[in-house]
Amino acid sequence: MNKTLDALLRELEEFGSHNDAVNTERPRRMLNITRDTGEFLSVLVRATNAKRVLEIGTSNGYSTLWLAQAAIAIGGHVTTIERSDFKQKLAANNFERSGIAHAITQVQGDAADFLNAHPDASYDLIFLDSERAEYPAWQAHLKRILNAGGLLVVDNATSHASEMAPFVALISADNDFSHCTVPVGNGEFLATRAMRSRPTNPA
Ligand SMILES: C[S@@+](CC[C@H](N)C(=O)[O-])C[C@H]1O[C@@H](n2cnc3c(N)ncnc32)[C@H](O)[C@@H]1O
Repeated sequence: MNKTLDALLRELEEFGSHNDAVNTERPRRMLNITRDTGEFLSVLVRATNAKRVLEIGTSNGYSTLWLAQAAIAIGGHVTTIERSDFKQKLAANNFERSGIAHAITQVQGDAADFLNAHPDASYDLIFLDSERAEYPAWQAHLKRILNAGGLLVVDNATSHASEMAPFVALISADNDFSHCTVPVGNGEFLATRAMRSRPTNPA
């Protein structure tokens, strides 16, 4: 990672932890992923060669920058959606400073509308980090827009396990997904969608 981007990420880590300590109102908190989660996402993007990445929940863009620097390394691109105008503007400024804004498309709006409007198999990796209560209603669209063999990553799997439970139950009941929870940061729930089945070779 280049020094400018690393310095920006470290600045955002300090900003996020100070901001979230003094602000009690959720809309003003950054609620960023941990640094080790960023490193983990970076490896996942590269290892799975996920060129088309979608993030739901941009905040001020900390996690987006981790995803984008990995996407660039494999010739990929990140689309990130955020409904808060305040946070979307903070993110735009951070992307401009990062030097990697060319690999990021920002969408301002509600994720439900975005998911409804997107064609099947549009993304190779989806990082979900927004309002957990909404995830079960999005499950069908998340599955539909995820490419076969694609990966869904969801933050806060252990820090907010009870809030995540309805969504985890839906994915667990779906035989098209293989899933696990990884104890990185606040806990990452990973679910990969099965490749399209191939006809078996007659003996
Ligand atoms: C936990 S924060 C995201 C943190 C960010 N991923 C990071 O680590 O830097 C969740 C964000 O999701 C946004 N959000 C919540 N529900 C949303 C929705 N339905 N559509 C779009 N954004 C949403 C919130 O405004 C908030 O900024």
